[in-house]
Amino acid sequence: MSPRQIAMIVIVVLAVVMIFLTARATPPSQTMSSRVSESAPTGAILYAQHCASCHGDNLQGQPNWQQANADGSYPAPPHDVSGHTWHHNDAYLIAITTYGGAAVTGVATNAMPAFQNQLSDSEIVLILDYIKGTWPDDIKAKQLNGHN
Ligand code: HEC
Repeated sequence: MSPRQIAMIVIVVLAVVMIFLTARATPPSQTMSSRVSESAPTGAILYAQHCASCHGDNLQGQPNWQQANADGSYPAPPHDVSGHTWHHNDAYLIAITTYGGAAVTGVATNAMPAFQNQLSDSEIVLILDYIKGTWPDDIKAKQLNGHN
């Protein structure tokens, strides 16, 4: 075998190895990006399933939400910037969604239901992240220092 033929064989072998390595490297990166795109809408979907019936498809809340109902309860407030969800810190938002409005505020007529038997802790965080993701940056920044 001439040195030229040996060089050709080496080049072919290297090319095959490169193709093999490239093919192997592609699937994990695809899996990663599809995992991200699958998890992104989950908060929105969970919101639509569990919260939108009261808080509105577009986070707009119920009409006249600042006016008490006849029984002393209040309609569901908006979660967009026109409401006061963003006045509250994460701990409070998680607590009220988990344990319900009456348990957290001590006001018996508070009609915000508890979701501890329907949603996991991480699902609740996903929903709240979805809500927060719709706010502009200055509101996001204020919410970080929100009160209970
Ligand atoms: C059956 C109707 C109903 C559903 C469903 C519901 N909520 Fe509520 N929610 C309310 C009402 C009513 C209030 C206001 C109670 C009050 O202030 O008296 C409220 C209040 C809240 C508050 C406090 C907002 C603030 O500014 O004080 C948060 C946060 C909240 N809801 C999140 C959620 C999330 C997240 C979901 C879905 C997992 C959800 N709610 C589903 C009725 C509902």
